[in-house]
Amino acid sequence: MKDEVVELGEPDVRELMELEALCFAYHWTREQFLLGLEGEVFKVIGVRRDDILVGYMAFSLIADEMEVLNLAVHPEYRRQGVGEALLSRSFEMCVANGTTKSFLDVKVSNDPALALYRKFGYKKIGVRKKYYPDTREDALLLRYDFKQYEG
Ligand SMILES: CC(C)(COP(=O)(O)OP(=O)(O)OC[C@H]1O[C@@H](n2cnc3c(N)ncnc32)[C@H](O)[C@@H]1OP(=O)(O)O)[C@@H](O)C(=O)NCCC(=O)NCCS
Repeated sequence: MKDEVVELGEPDVRELMELEALCFAYHWTREQFLLGLEGEVFKVIGVRRDDILVGYMAFSLIADEMEVLNLAVHPEYRRQGVGEALLSRSFEMCVANGTTKSFLDVKVSNDPALALYRKFGYKKIGVRKKYYPDTREDALLLRYDFKQYEG
């Protein structure tokens, strides 16, 4: 069965933080989530299975640009299409919004994420040296153009 992707809000912050802690060493704080959820600076969408939040994605839609801010799937639910469902839903929202391009950065060693973004058509456009504060690892800057979107 296809996962249903829903928009998340302030009541979901505790679960979002628990999921973050499972997925990242350097993770977002409650305040960072609230900044987005209350101020509508960015959107947060998620997938629940049996009432467990198994994945979420945060992204901003500013003017005609979308930026992927975070994307994480519970370790026990990976390789089951959750990441793909989240990214697909965000793309649908982008198309409805008239978004023309999307950017994101990803750690150079993050093979699963790179494979997912490449599957969606993102292309490398640059490198940010020692970008991440936790590991000092380089970031790859990726871009997607919605004119290639086929739904
Ligand atoms: C990256 C991440 C979100 C992928 O989520 P997921 O739900 O496991 O991904 P999906 O099952 O939807 O996979 C979709 C596609 O991505 C690629 N992919 C995902 N995980 C992969 C892996 N471990 N190895 C190779 N390709 C992978 C494949 O192309 C896959 O398609 P396929 O299953 O038809 O081969 C997940 O691994 C994660 O949460 N990682 C930790 C957090 C993180 O690094 N987030 C990204 C920050 S930029």
